[in-house]
Parts: sequence; C-alpha cells; structure tokens
Amino acid sequence: MTLNTLPGTEVHLEVLLARKESIADNVVRLTLRHPEGEALPAWEPGAHIDLVLRPDLVRQYSLCGDPRDRSVLEIAVLRERDGRGGSAFVHNELFDGDRLRIRGPRNHFKLVDAARYLFIAGGIGITPIVPMIAEADERGADWELCYGGRARSSMAFGPELSRKYGDRVVLRPQNEAGPLDLDDLLGYPEEDTAVYCCGPEPLMAAVEQRCHAWPQGALHVERFAPAEGADSGPRGRFDVELARSGVTVTVPPGKSILEVCEDIGMPVFSSCRQGTCGTCETPVLEGVPDHRDSVLTADEQAAGDTMMICVSRACGKRLVLDL
Ligand code: FES
Repeated sequence: MTLNTLPGTEVHLEVLLARKESIADNVVRLTLRHPEGEALPAWEPGAHIDLVLRPDLVRQYSLCGDPRDRSVLEIAVLRERDGRGGSAFVHNELFDGDRLRIRGPRNHFKLVDAARYLFIAGGIGITPIVPMIAEADERGADWELCYGGRARSSMAFGPELSRKYGDRVVLRPQNEAGPLDLDDLLGYPEEDTAVYCCGPEPLMAAVEQRCHAWPQGALHVERFAPAEGADSGPRGRFDVELARSGVTVTVPPGKSILEVCEDIGMPVFSSCRQGTCGTCETPVLEGVPDHRDSVLTADEQAAGDTMMICVSRACGKRLVLDL
C-alpha cells in the first residue's frame, strides 16, 4: 500500500495502448504494454491502476488480466451513460498505439486466505473478480461466483468464465432471470467464507446490509464511487499539524485537508479525490479522524491509524498527520 508518508515510491509509467477491443455491449478491454517491451509492475488480484487520460482526468480501473504475465496490463472500461467524462474519453478518444500514463498498481481489495469464497459481481464490477477467481481456483479453494448484469450481451467475461469454470459460475442476466437473489446467497452466515463484492452501489449496499449478520470481516467490497452518505455530517473548521513539515494549517468548512495542503504547495498524492481509491491515505499521529472514505474497513477506520485526506475530516479541533 502506498501511503502519503512515502512520497515518490509509487510507480508512474508511460505505457503503450497495444490493443483496444470491444468485449461486451459498451465495454472495451485495453491491453497496455511497456513502450520498450520491458516488464510492467507486479500486481496481485484486486489491484487497480490510475489511468491518466489528461492531467485533469484521472480514473481508476481494476486489473483484469493474469498477474503472472508481466508483459501486459489489462483493464476493461464500461461506457458510463451518466459518467464524469473518463469512460467517454476511453471509448471515444483512445486508439491503438496511443501513449498513456499510469500510476500504481494499488490494492485495497486483496484476496485473503479463506477455505471458501463467495464472489458477487454486478456489471463491470466483474473486472477485479476475474483474477481473484483464478487465484482462488489455483489455491484449491472452494468458491462460487454469482454474476449479475443487465443482459447476457452486456456481461463482460461471462461466457469465458462459464466455459472455464462450469457451474461454479452462475450468470444472472436480469432480463432473463431477474436480479441476483441475495437472500438466497447470503441468508445463512458461514464461518469460513470470505464474501467479495464489486458492482453498482445499490448492489453493494444490499450485500452490506445482508452481511451484518455475518462474522466481522467476512465481507470485502471495492468501490469506484463513494458509498451512499459517506461524505455527510458537519463540516467544521479544524487545525492540522503537518508533523514532518513543521507547519500547522487550518482546514475551513469548504475545503478538504488535501486542498489545503495543495494550497500551501505541499506535494501529496491524490487521484479520485472522492475517498474511493486510497491514493491519499495518510498516517495519523494524533487526534481522531472523522472518516468519510469508502476504502478503509470499519476496523481500519476505528483504529484511526490512517485517513483519506481528500474527504475525511477531524472529530475534534486538531489532527497531527505524518506529512
Ligand atoms: Fe482517492 Fe483520496 S484521492 S481516496
């Protein structure tokens, strides 16, 4: 994990878009290579990269290829109908042979050790799950994938996963079979099962709600949009001491800690700026953070050792950060 306490350690790399291909309705797969054919950074299932489309347009995409193949990185991008411009740029303005900058890989969605895995994917949320399944299968674990989508033709990787893994993979195109039956999937908490979910916010919220009865830590989710209500609550003024820089700044109600750091010219990592990617994670030395991110687990938030400074604030009047 890259923390803001280690500036300069994250990989920034120029890559070549070797191939852009359609793999489902409104979904393209991008295959990225090193321009000189060198090995690309190592990664583990669940990892994502930042794609720097323009300096002001940076988006996170899960890696969906084979981590053992260091010659390429693969991502799949859904054209979002009401998106903020990233997916439209990928679909309309990127072509084979283009050069792109990437950052990362970064992983907040690691595959833990478990006897059994239940993977639940909705739509393009299948992308981080594809390499996870391969890893779980290779580990000899018992696993099952329930993959829902609007229609069969919109479900990227669906046919190949079914072909490869048979009835461990349950495809639920909504127009044929209705929505995923979460009560059936999650109605009986299991002690030894890790649940992994990625997909649209309503699916993840529904899975979270049903997993309240499951053992603590059983559920693992990956979000690329903030959880509902995550950045809510009062936005009071507070002070932040930047311990390594020896500077204290005041964060007003209308700004984030990240913005205030940028205002004074402090170099800090950031990417999504909405509490979903983990790039701006910063160690907390004193004080209690008011966590508003969608990355840290409940246990990690309660521990308060780190915080996402793009959205999270202070419970009290002062924080000391390792910046
Ligand atoms: Fe993405 Fe803060 S910049 S979590």
